[in-house]
Amino acid sequence: MDFERKQFPLLYVNQHSRGVVGWGASKVAGQECQRYGITHALLVTTGLKGTGIIDEVEGILKNAGVAVTVFAGVTSNPKCEEVAEGTRMYLEAGCNGIVSVGGGSSHDAGKGIRIMLTNNGAATDLRAFRAVLDPHFTTMIPTYKVVNIPHVALNTTTGTGADCTSFAIINDEEWKYKLILIVPGVDPSVGINDPAFMRCQPANLIAWTGMDAFCHAMEPFIGRLNLPVSHATSLRAIKLLSENLRQGYANPKNDVAMENLLWAQFLASMSYNMGGGMGMVHGLAHMVSVLKNLHHGYANALMMLPVERFNSLACPERFKEIGEAMGLDIHHLSPVPAADKTLAEIERLRNDVGIPQVSLKEFDFSEADIEHTARWASNDISLEANPRDMSPDQIKSIMRSCL
Ligand SMILES: [Fe+2]
Repeated sequence: MDFERKQFPLLYVNQHSRGVVGWGASKVAGQECQRYGITHALLVTTGLKGTGIIDEVEGILKNAGVAVTVFAGVTSNPKCEEVAEGTRMYLEAGCNGIVSVGGGSSHDAGKGIRIMLTNNGAATDLRAFRAVLDPHFTTMIPTYKVVNIPHVALNTTTGTGADCTSFAIINDEEWKYKLILIVPGVDPSVGINDPAFMRCQPANLIAWTGMDAFCHAMEPFIGRLNLPVSHATSLRAIKLLSENLRQGYANPKNDVAMENLLWAQFLASMSYNMGGGMGMVHGLAHMVSVLKNLHHGYANALMMLPVERFNSLACPERFKEIGEAMGLDIHHLSPVPAADKTLAEIERLRNDVGIPQVSLKEFDFSEADIEHTARWASNDISLEANPRDMSPDQIKSIMRSCL
């Protein structure tokens, strides 16, 4: 490729958490607690009802001599109040570490609790740690206390990657905004990815989290941070998703598909976490999600095509590479028509896993919601890496096209 879109003189390459991956990996959760000195864990979770996973993890921890207090008060799109409640429970029970079990909501709540514990306990104002463009988050991060409370994260979905990343996303229900919290040390001590847990996901969750993982791979790959480390992990993740998401959705007990989806989400989370950044699919999906309480992955699936059709003007050559990773025979095409075919292929994958493009009107998304979205998203850190400039008016017109 003979194009050059680098515009940042310095690129930061961040660490990813340690990981334990494989069938039966959950069995080492107790050992991992011992490694980090956790003798009494606050087990943070949404509950995962009907799976038996929480009972199983509790048993594994107790068997290793780790006392457990369960906090199952986390909801999808975790809220500041829930994080404060978990913080109070941690302090009352005398815990000395976090074990989060679930998808992104559970891990992010666990990270939020650790940020509160590091500061003023349950009275901590999480807004003080939100990463935005103005004031620029890189100037704020050095002023924060480093989080050093141990955290063992057991992942149960094939999308989030939050078990190994340095971000916590928490809903501010009063502002109707998702706080993106970036605090040094907030990445879990270790992320445990056991496909035996992931095969308990219902098919719709496999579809939603799979499209989330696709966005985690795609957005850094086309983004203007243009980090070669991310290019490598993104392309492999996209190939694995293209080859396994349909099969995993159609049959969650397909072990090969589940294992490949696990690695796809792991690689995709590395793409953004190691420094590739995120783009405005996530930026706008966060707003839709917080305003209408939609699942994070589902909101991304609804926003990915409208946003990327807008973005493709800035980077058609990158979309051509994505199409090739998806198995399209487009080598002979120039970038613009190749990008068109790639976007159609992404849409087909999303439709195949049961997610049609539905109007946001279905969720009562209003003109006032569009104004709110444009106002808050214009200071979102996802704008920085988005490949195409996006003005507030352009955000509004993208949102209106989704009604
Ligand atoms: Fe995501």
